[in-house]
Amino acid sequence: MRSSAEDRALRERAEKVIPGGMYGHLSARMMPEGFPQFFAGGKGTRLTDVDGNIYIDFMCAYGPNLLGYRDPQVEAAVAAQLALGDTLTGPGPAMVELAEAMVSMVSHADWAMFCKNGGDATMMALMTARAYRGKRKVLVARNAYHGAMPWNTPKPAGVLAEDRAHVIYYDYNDAQALEDAVKQADGDLAGIFASPFRHDTFARQAPVDPEYARAARRLADDYDALLIVDDVRAGLRVARDCSWSEVGVQPDLSSWGKVLGNGQPISALMGNDRAREASAKLYVTGSFWYSAVPMVAALETLRIVRETDYLERMQHVGTLFRDGLQAQSAAAGMPLTLTGPVTMPILMFDEDPDFRLGYAFCREAMLRGIYLSPFHNMFMNAAMTPADIAEVLSATADSFEALKTNRDSITPAPAVLALMGD
Ligand SMILES: Cc1ncc(COP(=O)(O)O)c(C=O)c1O
Repeated sequence: MRSSAEDRALRERAEKVIPGGMYGHLSARMMPEGFPQFFAGGKGTRLTDVDGNIYIDFMCAYGPNLLGYRDPQVEAAVAAQLALGDTLTGPGPAMVELAEAMVSMVSHADWAMFCKNGGDATMMALMTARAYRGKRKVLVARNAYHGAMPWNTPKPAGVLAEDRAHVIYYDYNDAQALEDAVKQADGDLAGIFASPFRHDTFARQAPVDPEYARAARRLADDYDALLIVDDVRAGLRVARDCSWSEVGVQPDLSSWGKVLGNGQPISALMGNDRAREASAKLYVTGSFWYSAVPMVAALETLRIVRETDYLERMQHVGTLFRDGLQAQSAAAGMPLTLTGPVTMPILMFDEDPDFRLGYAFCREAMLRGIYLSPFHNMFMNAAMTPADIAEVLSATADSFEALKTNRDSITPAPAVLALMGD
């Protein structure tokens, strides 16, 4: 029997000592009713909440879990470094080894700088682009997420118009819109940000149009600005290189995070020689940016990325999941489509303008031990097996049955209504 007493008690305590009870992207308030907020642990593909309920987890900590929670090889590297020291007065040799490893894997890049969160890396990309020629304007695709810094956070509280005075928005995959935005920059263009593919929340994902990617490269060259691919979310789930290597377009800068240390806190900005001098001029740092443990975790994660078929295995289980779920939904008479790469799909019912079916379906799946999201892309990890997917599909088959039975009584999710009223 499923319990949630411990989670409820923690939420009540949190309301008193944490503003709003929870903040940011991990707030369970955005999820369907009944999703847990607090977790006790994770191993491989499985996540355990504080009440002991176990889920096959398709969110992977919103990305960082690439190889499976507590991957034994990464854990061994972490334990060995912990025994020596982590946050010291300076970095260890792992910093140089990691920069070398990343430069050898990411074909556009000649250097790497390390930080903690994806938002640090995108902020450094923004600063590098501006330091490059002393220009100000940056082009950002509308609704694209590049972190929670004032220049990009999706909510307006605490943000000044001045924080975004030099951000110009364009529509992703639209080469003409990009060209128009460059004209608007009027000779003051510092950089162009692009996601590897369109992976906005509450929207179908779309692969990058190679023509748009090539236009971005050409415009950056023509106007002597820097092209930035933000691979924080998609990095190493699309390619073992920068994701735009798949369409043959090389950016000047790429931002990385999430998967790098398989859950250990580390992110990176990578760049080519053209951007080297500008980035060397920046004063950017943080108390924990040089800690050795996340760096050895990243070295081990990258070794596994280079030496194993982790990506092909994720693609295989991702295909089984997508095809199985789509076939079940069609058979149930309420078709859904999983868009985006099979390793990072977003799940949306074809006829569901206010997301009520999506929310209700994910709730049914959660009650059966499968953790899915109705509004954010999900993530495969390399610990997932075809047997896991068979277990998932058995639970989702039951979820569709429950949905069919209750269909007429499903109401829009409060989380979505609140968002629409925002
Ligand atoms: C594409 C992209 N860029 C940047 C970020 C910010 O990363 P972080 O949350 O680690 O600061 C995210 C986080 O989800 C992201 O998806």
